[in-house]
Amino acid sequence: MWYATRASGYTALVLLSASVVLGVLTSSRESRRGWPRFVVQSLHRNLSLLVGVFLVIHILTSVIDPFAKLNFVDAFVPFIASYRPLWLGLGVVAFELLIAITATSLMRHRLGWRSWRFVHLFAYASWPIAVIHGVGTGTDTKLVWALALVALCLVAVIAALIWRLALAGPRFTALRVLGIAGCCVATAVLVAWMAAGPLEHGWAKAAGTPADLLAGSVDTPAGTAAPVAALSTGLNDPLVGSLVRSAASATATLTDSRDRTLQVVIVANADGSGTLTVTRSGARLCVAPATIGNSGVTGQCGAVLATIQVVDQGNGSASGTLATQKAGS
Ligand code: HEM
Repeated sequence: MWYATRASGYTALVLLSASVVLGVLTSSRESRRGWPRFVVQSLHRNLSLLVGVFLVIHILTSVIDPFAKLNFVDAFVPFIASYRPLWLGLGVVAFELLIAITATSLMRHRLGWRSWRFVHLFAYASWPIAVIHGVGTGTDTKLVWALALVALCLVAVIAALIWRLALAGPRFTALRVLGIAGCCVATAVLVAWMAAGPLEHGWAKAAGTPADLLAGSVDTPAGTAAPVAALSTGLNDPLVGSLVRSAASATATLTDSRDRTLQVVIVANADGSGTLTVTRSGARLCVAPATIGNSGVTGQCGAVLATIQVVDQGNGSASGTLATQKAGS
């Protein structure tokens, strides 16, 4: 679910940027010379509807996934979530602006052109707000592909805006100069903020990630170990690794696919006894007796009960899941 949140977030951002670019193109007479107007307009409309589809997936999966402990109120009332409230709240604001834009577009004939156009100009506000949300709250912001996607969206929208402003008639010279200067300044401010904030070490904490989630964070300087902390509850993570069998025991060494600093080693002996070892960044979180039953391997790691399912994939490889909950609950 968390992967789906992240993938649908970037998909929505790219589609939204494409839709904004097409919206800017349709507003200019120049574009109509090369491109039939209906093509650009219907592409713009269909892309906007696709943005809606991916945003529904983005919001539903972020609420269903237990990681950030979000609920539907957090998804509709900005700035009240416990997870990165400001940056998540900006996503809610962008989404609500898009709902207003879509609703008024559907009622366009009843509203009249002036009112419709007034609300539609909010599209220009919702796009940068969505970009700041994605960069500010995203797990993937520091990754090269994520930076490349954000840069692509920025360049496309800014280029379309500058092109559109450059085409404005001679009566609008002041507006043109102001608009183009505004685009350049806004881009420079965004890049400076990213460098000083989301791309800096420690952003996860500064962004308002709850302390219990920070324990599982991998937001550490390159080459240093993540802070060692207790195993978090509420995990439901996929595992991958290896399985080695001998006559006396079987050893599964598995890494959490979401938090690669977390490793689980299970030793199951032929006599039915076993041990569970959990480490983070090589530092031991716990060694506990493991109970091997039909519902998987269970072991208590401090105040947390871990249940691990192991699936033998053959050829020495294994996969599985790690679920954690408060012991005794
Ligand atoms: C126009 C609206 C929105 C757009 C374009 C958008 C886009 C994005 C993008 C690009 C990311 C970064 C994902 C990553 O780093 O992998 C993100 C993160 C996130 N968004 Fe949105 N979002 C929008 C609205 C919302 C709303 C309304 C919610 C409410 C629940 C939401 C919840 C989240 C969460 C929880 C994350 C964090 C995922 C993570 O840590 O990786 N988003 N969003």
